Amino acid sequence: MMEIKKYELPKLSYDYGDLAPHISEEQLKLHHTKHHQAYVNGANEILDKLDKARKENSDIDIKATLKALSFNIGGHILHSLFWKNLSPSGKGGGGAPSGKISDAIKDEFGSFDRFRKEFTQAAMTAEGSGWAALAFCKKTGRPIIMQIEKHNTNVYPTSKILLVIDVWEHAYYLDYKNERAKFIDAFWNIVDWKEANKRLEEAMK
Ligand SMILES: [Fe+2]
Repeated sequence: MMEIKKYELPKLSYDYGDLAPHISEEQLKLHHTKHHQAYVNGANEILDKLDKARKENSDIDIKATLKALSFNIGGHILHSLFWKNLSPSGKGGGGAPSGKISDAIKDEFGSFDRFRKEFTQAAMTAEGSGWAALAFCKKTGRPIIMQIEKHNTNVYPTSKILLVIDVWEHAYYLDYKNERAKFIDAFWNIVDWKEANKRLEEAMK
């Protein structure tokens, strides 16, 4: 039997002020300690509720419960991936990709610029709250862009996520107000391509 654990807020590998001016200290701290933490708490609370109902053998609204569970787990997993996709500008963050991820992007999209344009459009046009992600489909060997609504809608099951950007307003409102395009522009200065490359290599194994 595997040990049962709670979901936990991961520590960041950089300080809250390290991504400035692209993401300010205040914005990053709020996003990590309040918004991400809320999804961690939400997922744990729902699992506790399920445990309780099973123990008491009482009825529970399975449809609503699983919908909320998927939303909170999705939020937790995506944020955890997002933090690792970022590094301070010039210290691992920004620039163009190299290695296998660079080859995969060129093969699929024709050029890095074309990929950047499509990914930016996916992030720009996510309605309301959502994400753009670059995933890898092992069945076809193709990288593929996902436009995720909320935290869990339009996900390609089992495709490994290589790169993700959070375009919920809570990700950028303090720094950029309603100007999502400015936040996406800034994101390219702090993308950690090494992490995306590492995930691609794992996915290709
Ligand atoms: Fe977020």
